[in-house]
Formats: sequence, C-alpha cells, structure tokens
Amino acid sequence: MKNSEPVLLKRVGKMTDPASVEEYVKLGGFEGIKKAISMDKEEILAEIDTAHVRGRGGAAYPMGRKWIHLYEMDHDTKYIVCNADEGEPGTFKDKVLLDRDPLSVIEGMLIAGYLFRSKQGYIYIRGEYRTIHKVFKKALEQAKAAGYLGKNIMGIEGFNYDINIVSGSGAYVCGENSALLNSIEGKVGRPRVKPPHLAEVGLYGKPTLVNNVESYACVPVILTEGGQTFLNYGTPDGGGTKLISISGHAKNRGVYEVKLGTKLKDILYSEEFGGGTSTGKEIKFVHFGGQSGPIGYLEDCDLEYSYEGLWNNGLAVGSGAIVVMDESVSIVEYLKSVMEFFAHESCGKCTPCRIGTTRAAELLKDFTTGRAKKGDLERLEKMLQHITFLSACGLGQSAAVAFQSALKHGREEFESLIK
Ligand SMILES: Cc1cc2nc3c(=O)[nH]c(=O)nc-3n(C[C@H](O)[C@H](O)[C@H](O)COP(=O)(O)O)c2cc1C
Ligand code: SF4
Repeated sequence: MKNSEPVLLKRVGKMTDPASVEEYVKLGGFEGIKKAISMDKEEILAEIDTAHVRGRGGAAYPMGRKWIHLYEMDHDTKYIVCNADEGEPGTFKDKVLLDRDPLSVIEGMLIAGYLFRSKQGYIYIRGEYRTIHKVFKKALEQAKAAGYLGKNIMGIEGFNYDINIVSGSGAYVCGENSALLNSIEGKVGRPRVKPPHLAEVGLYGKPTLVNNVESYACVPVILTEGGQTFLNYGTPDGGGTKLISISGHAKNRGVYEVKLGTKLKDILYSEEFGGGTSTGKEIKFVHFGGQSGPIGYLEDCDLEYSYEGLWNNGLAVGSGAIVVMDESVSIVEYLKSVMEFFAHESCGKCTPCRIGTTRAAELLKDFTTGRAKKGDLERLEKMLQHITFLSACGLGQSAAVAFQSALKHGREEFESLIK
C-alpha cells in the first residue's frame, strides 16, 4: 500500500502455509478474538460501529448498523454467513484473502460467532475457486485442531461454534444475500422479497448476519487496533483501507490495498498501482465496482477514491473493481457486453429484468451493427429506467447504471451510430 504499511494484506506473502495456525499466530493472528473475549459485548459493537466500515461486497451498507440490528434480535439461534461468491466481473480481491490469509476471515467470523452467541457459520465460496476451497478447508481444520473452532473454544465453557463451507455453482445472482441463503438451504438461488430483513428472517428463517469476505477480515484489525484507528485509515464517511482489483488495459493488473481517500489519478497512473495502460494508448474510461457499477471518464481523475468522493460525482467504490479501458474501445460495444451479461444472469423471477435486459441488449446490438434508428436511444433510456424501478433485486436495479453514467459523457458516440 502506497506510503504506509498494509493493514488487511499484512500477512499475505509472509506465510509458507497460509492455513497454518502457528504461522498466523506468529504474525499477530487471533489477537482480535482474544481481545473480544475480554470485552463487554456492547464494547465490541461500539468498536465496530466507530470503525465505520462500509460493506465491502458492493452495497456499502454500514457494518456497525447491520451488527447492531442483529444484536438487538432476541433469538436463541443466529447464523453467521460469509459471502465469498465473488461473482462480480472484474472483482478478484476476496480471492487473495481466502487463498493467502484464510484464517483472518475465519477469525472475523469467529468474533461474530462469539458476539451473537451463534453456533454455526457458513462460508459460501464461488464454485470456480476450487483450489481456494481446499486451502480454506485446511485452514478450518487447523483452526479446529488448535481449539479456535468446535466445542469450548479457547477453553471457554459453552463457546461452541463451527463453520461449514458451501460451494456456489456459478450463478451471479447467488451473490445477492437472500439468494445466497436460499442456495445454502438447497433451494433455487433466487432473491427473496425484502422486507423482512435478513437480520430478522434469514437462513432457515432465523436471524442471520451476511457479510463479505473483506468485511470479516476487517473485524480482527478493528478490535486489535481500535475502531478509531481503523476509521482513520479511511475517510469519516467510510473507514479503513480498501482492497481493489485493477484489470482491463491497465499496465499493472492485480489486487492492491489503498487507503480510502487516495487520489484516483494515483490509482490509475502511479507505478505502485495501475501504472497507466499496457497498450501505450490513453485511458478512455474506467468501470468501477464491476458490471453493476458506474463508468467514469478522465475528467474524474482528480477525485478522491472514497465512498463519498465518488458518490458525490455519480461514481461508486462498489466491490473495489476498477476495469480500465483504453481509447481503442467503443463504449457502445462495451455497454452491449455489459447488458448481455445481465440478460444472461437474470434469474427470471421478475418480468422487467428478465425481458427488459434481453431487449436492451438487442437494442444495444442494433447500435453496434448499424441498425439503430432515430428514437432508439430514447427508447433504450426509457426501457432501462423501467428495469431500474420495477426490478425486485439489486441485479435488475443496477443493470442500467453503467449505461446511464456513460451516457452523460458518451452520448455523441451513440448518436453517431444512428442512421
Ligand atoms: C446480483 C448481486 C450479486 C452480488 N454478489 C456479491 C458477491 O459476489 N459478493 C458479495 O460479498 N456481495 C455480493 N452482493 C452483495 C450482497 O447482496 C450483500 O450486500 C453483501 O454480501 C453484504 O455484505 P457486506 O455488507 O459486507 O458487503 C451481490 C448483490 C447483488 C444484487
Ligand atoms: S431483478 Fe432480475 S435477478 Fe433480481 S429477482 Fe428480478 S429477475 Fe431475478
């Protein structure tokens, strides 16, 4: 991480066996849970809330608020679920934690298990991550053998908690938290109607916490370093560091840890991060947060990469994906492939998303094949507005985000393709 020590990636690359409890402990592991068991439950919650972590899966919902909501639920059975589906195209940052520091994720889930008196956690790992699945399983076994999972954890009578792995099968929509719970239950992975909130009616109808891999990895750091220190790594609106995955035409593609508030220009051009393009051509546009995120142009370069900094300018951090496209790429072609992705991944439950994304992809194809007519751009805009407002889950609701943000700057490119 530029100009400072890594926070979440501090152990990555330093362990010969990332699943080894011994190595993890030598590098400061399990200090978070040790701290947690010495604190009042309300104190733990206060630290999490102070850190002001926005959910790292993409929706940016404040973690503290979610944890307080679940804590207030008066119920004997609560479940802890980790969303490791990582299905958003261009996003590959959770993979690094799961593969190279899995015990940090386990420790975050363990602290949640302790706080909420949960007996059972689940991690839903993307099906394609087969090797990671093995590494994570080994880390769970080692944690259990060392007394950090199972019965009477760390010698505390009645602190019984275990974590099971569930494997996804490749559907993007299963990353949506309620679809993910349905999938764990063995049902078709389709989103549920909300409310009720998952903190009230979640897995098997019981109050459930669903957080992203990176969100859980923040928890031990928050408890060892303190919520205020963690907040100070970022901005008042979103604490901590953020893992980003840079791809596309960027020269230095990969996963990096950045302080929230770093200048976008630095992320795109400095050698510590993206390093400009690998093609020698200018950057034309950047897609933030995966396919469901907005598109930014070069004039956005002076912005801060932070939740507020991007939101105030119509952009978003989302999952942390940063897809860089150079000037050889047609924005219309690009948006066509984005829409084809949504049409392919729509679960089909609601008509505006099922039919709308397919029709929108067809219309976009007309633009790329010289068949677009006068009025088609307006028709497309209207159709995408309907999909946004009438869809039941985040997939349909965000299918138009890339198009709408790109149109603000790239309208002429569309108009030039109309006969
Ligand atoms: C279609 C769709 C796919 C999603 N995929 C993921 C995913 O792969 N990983 C993830 O953590 N969150 C994903 N989310 C967000 C989750 O619904 C949820 O907000 C998240 O797991 C909550 O954890 P967080 O608050 O720690 O981010 C997805 C949402 C939607 C609508
Ligand atoms: S918006 Fe799309 S993905 Fe979401 S429930 Fe409706 S049809 Fe399924």
